[in-house]
Amino acid sequence: MLSNLKTHPADKILALMAAFKEDPRENKVDLGVGVYKAADGTTPIMRAENTAEKQLWEAETTKSYVGLIGDPAFNTAMRDLILGNVVDDARLASAATPGGTGAVRQALELVKLANPDTTIWVSDPTWPNHLTIIKYLGLPMQTYRYFDNATRAVDFAGMMHDLRHAKAGDVVLLHGCCHNPTGANLTLDEWGAVADFIQASGAVPMIDIAYQGFGDGLDQDAAGTRLMASRLPEMLIAASCSKNFGIYRERTGILIGMSETADIDGVPQNNLAFLNRQNFSFPPDHGSRLVTMILTDPALRADWQAELEEVRTGMLSLRETLAGELRQRTNSDKFDFLADHRGMFSRLGATPDQVKAMREDHGIYMVGDSRLNIAGINARTVPILAEAIVAAGV
Ligand code: LMR
Repeated sequence: MLSNLKTHPADKILALMAAFKEDPRENKVDLGVGVYKAADGTTPIMRAENTAEKQLWEAETTKSYVGLIGDPAFNTAMRDLILGNVVDDARLASAATPGGTGAVRQALELVKLANPDTTIWVSDPTWPNHLTIIKYLGLPMQTYRYFDNATRAVDFAGMMHDLRHAKAGDVVLLHGCCHNPTGANLTLDEWGAVADFIQASGAVPMIDIAYQGFGDGLDQDAAGTRLMASRLPEMLIAASCSKNFGIYRERTGILIGMSETADIDGVPQNNLAFLNRQNFSFPPDHGSRLVTMILTDPALRADWQAELEEVRTGMLSLRETLAGELRQRTNSDKFDFLADHRGMFSRLGATPDQVKAMREDHGIYMVGDSRLNIAGINARTVPILAEAIVAAGV
């Protein structure tokens, strides 16, 4: 039986991570996987996380199961963090999941359970794992234009043009903020136009929000999601705590389903619990417990928000520094888009050959589509990266 298995193509992001590890060069620069790094190259445990972890160690008396949807307090705290108070809680169902990927997977499983012929519309480009999970589940997929390679901004006209073909019941997958891999984001007016379109077409938005707090701030980054929630009858939200709480390996995420009316009979909630049971039973508890402690304790929350803000503004200033360095070296504003993009990533717009040349000649590791992780650079490596970009003729 096992001899029937075929090897799957390596995930490009994870393969790059492995290649970086193997490169013996001391000056190599990792701009690959979406993990935050401080200036010294480490991925620190956030202060509030450390404090909560110590408190939990003192207070926790059992490791027994919690519940199929996780701790209700985690669900409440996360719904609140993402949606504020724009929708009546009675319309929401939710379940904790193993990370944001788990939430995406459970969301798509839910769609398949509701109707296996549902077409999923994804941005071109999108996070590669969206594509492979959709394919793995056998759901029909269509793409909509999203990124203008010439301006390195959102091709909004192209996006709306392509989405015209979305039908009632189709699912439109959107990135809540900090678009991965491009870093180019919709304005609030554009979110409004997408909401109008979705409302008129009867399609259902699915929002993947994995970087809330990394772009323009916690509330600002959720503004598009909240706008949709306040206007549309139905919606799915897959959220991750990996990045904004810095708890990657704890696998902490949530899937939220918003129904048109109050979930009086509990059917959507029942389906989320059912899907968890089928796929992994109980979601991991440790990370979600830390998140709940942080979000519900005013002192821990204030400390977390302050540190998240340092992370966010640090990445913004790296964007400015890199754009400035490239302005100087190229005597043009060609790379100013780096300062306009938001979140951890920017798509540089380099060709695969140029990406290869930067890796081979300068030890710069970015994903093959020229996505770079802004948090992977620091004051020392900005000139190295700028030189590589210019030398490769990007
Ligand atoms: C990324 O896009 O690099 C992150 O979301 C990590 C991952 O799992 O791919």
